[in-house]
Amino acid sequence: MSKLAIIGGTGLSQMQGLSINSTENLDTPFGTPSAPYVLGSINGKEIVFLARHGNPHTIPPHKINYRANIWGLKQLGVSEIIAVAAVGGITSEMAPAHIAIPDQIIDYSYGREHTFFADDLENVTHIDFTFPYTQTLRSRLIKAAAQQNIVITETGTYGSTQGPRLESSAEIIRMERDGCDLVGMTGMPEAALAKELNIDYATIAVVANWAAGKSEGEISMDEIELHVKNGMLNVTKLLSAFLS
Ligand code: HPA
Repeated sequence: MSKLAIIGGTGLSQMQGLSINSTENLDTPFGTPSAPYVLGSINGKEIVFLARHGNPHTIPPHKINYRANIWGLKQLGVSEIIAVAAVGGITSEMAPAHIAIPDQIIDYSYGREHTFFADDLENVTHIDFTFPYTQTLRSRLIKAAAQQNIVITETGTYGSTQGPRLESSAEIIRMERDGCDLVGMTGMPEAALAKELNIDYATIAVVANWAAGKSEGEISMDEIELHVKNGMLNVTKLLSAFLS
């Protein structure tokens, strides 16, 4: 039987509607995860919830121990992960508060512990990453959105930057030329690590702001918070439909 985890990002440090059974503090060979794992149920379905940035939100994207987070989920028997992530919108459909279910990734991050296959190897391992997100999980999310009449974009390329600063407008122009629709700071190495451990993985991307240079003026944290809050209302609806 599959076991589902939700990794909550900015604006989702706690899971609404989750009736909590227990919390687990785990240690892993790669260090300590971002927060205790919260075990509980939504609509009667068992899930594990993890706050990617800690709860409260204190860990910046480049300091997250992605390996510990994913390893801990595997230890708990998790076989599917839905990652919720706030992003900047690059292409025209990706307006603030919009939701997309990306199907591709370009990794611009650097200096992060990004693989379980680094040390003590019996064999050099290269996972296939042609399709970084699990198609079946993506399809189920898209179906749940349709059931709730939530307008989403069903595809998109997620460009994963290093952060914690936002991008320059020239970087966004380059990313658009590369084919990115969305820009975020936590998509990688999370997706690849899940794949290395054979865990199905899909992302619900919530647009927090127009990416740098895509609107007048500068990007403010107030603006990001406001749009994430609005977008999260639909994320909660979507997840609830997904779990029913
Ligand atoms: N860039 C990178 N990450 C983000 C952004 C952005 O504009 N907005 C929310 N996360």
